[in-house]
Amino acid sequence: MANGLFITFEGGEGCGKTTQVKRVATRLKNAGRNAFLVREPGGTLLGEELRRLLQFTPELAGMCAETELLLYAASRAQLVAQIILPALDQGAVVLCDRYLDSTTVYQGIARGLPLDAVRAVNKFATRGHLPDLTLLFDLDPAEARRRLLRRPRPASGIEDRMEIQPPEFYVKVREGYLQVASAETERFVVIDASGSADEIERIVWKTLRARFPSLG
Ligand code: TMP
Repeated sequence: MANGLFITFEGGEGCGKTTQVKRVATRLKNAGRNAFLVREPGGTLLGEELRRLLQFTPELAGMCAETELLLYAASRAQLVAQIILPALDQGAVVLCDRYLDSTTVYQGIARGLPLDAVRAVNKFATRGHLPDLTLLFDLDPAEARRRLLRRPRPASGIEDRMEIQPPEFYVKVREGYLQVASAETERFVVIDASGSADEIERIVWKTLRARFPSLG
């Protein structure tokens, strides 16, 4: 039986979750905790290859939504089996930058794949393993877009396929996340991501310590 802690970070592009998950990992490591930081898609050799195919291979722009769903799930299955479950068994704190809620929201709600199929694939890929806590970084998609435009462009010049969807897609993503969070209020904490990175870090840390006093 796993005895570690599994915490996931979710939200639309540009919401700042990656900055925050890195800050939490650094804090925990500095405090001597056994903490793992992984991301999705990716986190394993196979997963990083799938990430490249999914996001940075313009020749695959015509990928259908079903294929997209299965490739994200394949990356997740490998990550769960190879890294997450063994780390939790050792009592580690596993921090994951995106997990199964991304699939529910992006492929299910935003792309419109049937939610029962998405749920079944998610359950299979994760062996039914849910996070102990999911932090949802909620931000207005227009502000998120402005933040993204301020980021340096990739050196390769290849745009991220998932970051060049029409604006309505990101509105659906935001609404989808809020919908998923309101259906599982025990697991989710919604964080207003409109403040500065330092302000949000304080909220994140306060939330984590309130939920898991042993972390503090
Ligand atoms: P990120 O590294 O900026 O979080 O980007 C990952 C992208 O992949 C983001 O656009 C969301 C997308 N994604 C899905 O569509 N489904 C998934 O299951 C996962 C994990 C990510």
